[in-house]
Amino acid sequence: MRKSSRKVLELAGHVGLAAAALVLSCTVVRAQAPEANEAVAQRGHYLAVAADCAACHTAPGGGKPFAGGYGIASPLGSIYSTNITPSKTYGIGTYTEAQFARALREGIRGDGAHLYPAMPYTSYTKLTDDDIHALYVYFMHDVKPVEAKGPETALPFPYNIRASMAFWNLLFLDDTRFKPEPGKSAEVNRGHYLSYALAHCDTCHTPRNAMMAEIGSKALGGASLASWDAPNITSDPKSGVGSWSDDDLARYLKTGDVPGKAQAGGPMAEAVEHSFQYLSDGDIRAIVAYIRQVPAISDSRDTAPRDAYGKASDREDAYRGVAESGMSRGERLFSGECAACHRPTGKGSPDGYYPQLFHNTAVGAPIADNLISTILMGVRREVGGHTVYMPGFGEGSYVDALSDQDIADISNYVEQTFGNPAVKVTADEVKLTRSGGPKPLIAKLGAFAVPGMIVGVLVLAGAVVLVMRRGRKKH
Ligand code: HEC
Ligand code: HEC
Ligand code: HEC
Repeated sequence: MRKSSRKVLELAGHVGLAAAALVLSCTVVRAQAPEANEAVAQRGHYLAVAADCAACHTAPGGGKPFAGGYGIASPLGSIYSTNITPSKTYGIGTYTEAQFARALREGIRGDGAHLYPAMPYTSYTKLTDDDIHALYVYFMHDVKPVEAKGPETALPFPYNIRASMAFWNLLFLDDTRFKPEPGKSAEVNRGHYLSYALAHCDTCHTPRNAMMAEIGSKALGGASLASWDAPNITSDPKSGVGSWSDDDLARYLKTGDVPGKAQAGGPMAEAVEHSFQYLSDGDIRAIVAYIRQVPAISDSRDTAPRDAYGKASDREDAYRGVAESGMSRGERLFSGECAACHRPTGKGSPDGYYPQLFHNTAVGAPIADNLISTILMGVRREVGGHTVYMPGFGEGSYVDALSDQDIADISNYVEQTFGNPAVKVTADEVKLTRSGGPKPLIAKLGAFAVPGMIVGVLVLAGAVVLVMRRGRKKH
């Protein structure tokens, strides 16, 4: 666009008709603006996918895109996402770009009220001006307005005082844009930006301190997400993913399945399904390049990589001769509930649709959370129009509902036979995981912020008490 308007100006200069040039170049700009806008909106759409805005702002079970109404469970009650379609009455149709930027970066709504940190502005605060602009253009022009009001958030006192979030922000919001690290390649910096400002890998994979803030020195070192465990994905060859090839990592992010290594279940499956599968190959490579050079976090108890444990069982032949009474309870249950798909040998199906259970990170991990959660909740992931599906045995609408003891017994058989024999699972552990419930990806992300919110409000209350005491002493 710039080139052609400059040409127009040159032309005009030659003929000495400056005024005509002005008119002409304006026409050129006007003629090209919608097209340029379209490109910006498309980029905004891509960014919205990379940042997974729809995951929270679309109600489950067929809600209209971005119309809000998704309740993020917190111990204080549900925090509902709002309508962010360009409806002027119910959505953000009246937001200026500056107001939009403020909501994304500082957690402040168009009307000046504070948002609860269930909206991840602590990540989006790193977005560049360009990307905020593209998102704004996308939301204002390409998203269909939805003229409907969603449920309202009504937390109990004192959490209904939105201004108290100002204190939370003082503690937890680092309101600065992403700065490329000097000395790192453009690809690594792009990957860093994607991983933190948009895809927020850190919100799941970085452990948190008692104040629920991420521990910077343990970045991507692995963290528990209630029922699921987001493993260490630093460059350590045993505790992390240092032994994975670049192609393995790229394939995992794009599809959630690396045969003979790992499958994505739970919250990671949702991130792959809704967001990562749509990232360009270049952006996936950039994330991989960034992950590769994250400092290793090592645990000396990890003596082999998670994907190196176990081997096929020779039970297939043996079964014929083994009476049920010769099997442990765990093996009998495995044989009845799991072997039809994963085979008695644990080799899975030849086409890999049913994965092998040895050399499988969920089974070889030093903690059994992902194995237990997989059995309880199953796996569901839709990628490139294909669905992989394992039923969950926690409720048993399609399969037998298994008790906590059943799942503990199966897990112990699977760990002993195909995985990490040092891992022992008890019925109590299964019970705990079960009560964590199959909450969707984002419910967990939101829930992280809430304990921090409570701390923030307590700090505020403490400060008020202090000020009041001082005031009293003076009088
Ligand atoms: C983890 C869940 C989550 C994600 C992801 C998320 N949001 Fe939100 N957002 C929320 C919640 C919850 C609220 C309402 C919070 C409240 O009421 O305090 C909100 C509020 C907002 C608001 C304020 C609207 C208003 O006037 O009420 C805007 C604007 C917004 N989000 C835009 C976005 C955009 C753009 C993205 C993607 C770049 C995004 N959100 C991603 C959870 C999320
Ligand atoms: C919403 C939470 C969440 C987000 C966001 C997330 N992950 Fe994960 N990730 C998980 C969980 C949970 C697992 C374990 C899944 C399983 O084994 O079924 C996992 C597994 C992985 C694994 C496989 C590790 C193994 O040993 O099997 C890799 C690699 C990975 N994530 C990389 C990333 C990267 C890179 C990003 C950001 C681009 C990211 N994740 C974002 C939760 C998340
Ligand atoms: C109906 C077929 C079926 C049954 C029955 C079944 N699975 Fe699966 N299993 C699958 C499929 C499909 C996947 C996902 C493959 C993928 O992600 O690409 C899977 C994945 C897994 C994973 C890897 C999950 C991860 O997050 O890394 C484990 C471990 C597992 N199953 C264990 C079991 C156990 C134990 C049982 C018995 C209680 C069982 N499965 C029963 C089909 C089945």
